[in-house]
Amino acid sequence: MLNFTYHNPVRIVFGRQSIARLTELVPEDLRIMLIYGGGSIKHNGVYEQIKSALSNHDVVEFSGIEPNPLYETCMRGVQLAKTERVGFLLAAGGGSVMDATKFIAAAVRYPGDDPWDMVLKKATVTSALPLGCVVTLPATGSETNINAVISRRSSAQKIPFKSELLFPRFSILDPETTFSLPQRQLANGIVDTFVHVCEQYLTYDVKASLQDRQAESILLTLIEEAPKLSGPQDDYDVRANLMWCATQALNHNLSCGVPTDWSTHAIGHELTAFCDIDHARALAIVMPALLNHQRHRKADKLLKFARRVWNIDNPNGDRAIDEALKCTVRFFRDLGMPTRLRDCRIPATVIPKIAKRLGQRAPLAGEHQDLDARKVTAILETAM
Ligand code: NZQ
Ligand code: ZN
Repeated sequence: MLNFTYHNPVRIVFGRQSIARLTELVPEDLRIMLIYGGGSIKHNGVYEQIKSALSNHDVVEFSGIEPNPLYETCMRGVQLAKTERVGFLLAAGGGSVMDATKFIAAAVRYPGDDPWDMVLKKATVTSALPLGCVVTLPATGSETNINAVISRRSSAQKIPFKSELLFPRFSILDPETTFSLPQRQLANGIVDTFVHVCEQYLTYDVKASLQDRQAESILLTLIEEAPKLSGPQDDYDVRANLMWCATQALNHNLSCGVPTDWSTHAIGHELTAFCDIDHARALAIVMPALLNHQRHRKADKLLKFARRVWNIDNPNGDRAIDEALKCTVRFFRDLGMPTRLRDCRIPATVIPKIAKRLGQRAPLAGEHQDLDARKVTAILETAM
């Protein structure tokens, strides 16, 4: 097992009616900025629950955060937060709203000329407004981590940044908020969660037995729960299990003491930046091709994945890996996901653009930091 430091201070409030707990969780002596997206919270009762819990608080609102949140939109939020002298940010929505809120929190206090430098040049975040989250879409794990991914329309970029100052103070997870999610977003959330786990599990073996078992237990839970959605068994507990899986998949716990490979996300973010495809859909296209390309270097873990997650006991290792990848693709497809670039009518002309960007990264992506432009091209060509 590799050395690690683990720290996660986020208070989780989980369960029915937990939005009412905002009354005590949000400081009363600060002006609050409630941040949300395109209006889903106004149709599913979340907005009313928040307003009622904060009826004695001083609240201003900033809405219109789009999926794959834009720097341009966030900067309007920064302006409002400064003009209104806001002291605490409350995000209500999915990963996009939570990430935008993290960016605004850091940008309001950014001492330099352009807060985009925190994203592009990794300028250090030295201070940030405190923030909390009401999660309505289980997927990204943003509610318990330090990451945010921000896009910039003018340059077709989508780039992650992070800071320990961006841990939410608390996150409220009420599984009932997910009942209004369209099937497409539920599927996106399951695949995003699945891929987050795989990127911390499918690397090379460092004898981290507990971390492997934790990863497998999340994958197995997703595989068990996903088919229940929209069927007769679809109930509160299915939603609760999926929600807790998403949080556990990216709260920095699974990556303790193990190598990680975030290259599916790195390539997926470029696909979204160039082709405006949903985050999880990009991942469903990239990961099977990437695992296939890296199958020899990841063989030990892929065989474990085949045996323990997909119950495959084929003594021929290569065939066992083939079967595991087929099962993974079938799982994604049963959820209605695309698994090929052509499923989304993405043309091959985008491949060299993505390969060029990945090839310029320092360090290169992958657990061995060696995914150069040639390898990225080969992966995406397999995904055609
Ligand atoms: O904007 P509203 O009206 O709220 O509608 C949203 C949006 O259209 C809707 N929605 C959310 N909750 C709903 C709902 N509709 C009905 N009922 C509800 N309860 O769903 C749509 C998608 O929302 P979005 O927040 O974009 O989805 P998701 O949670 O998948 O977030 C994706 C973003 O998170 C980033 C992605 O790159 C992408 O930008 N990620 C952030 C990570 C992190 N911070 O750690 C890690 C992830 O890997 C990911 O990269
Ligand atoms: Zn993701």
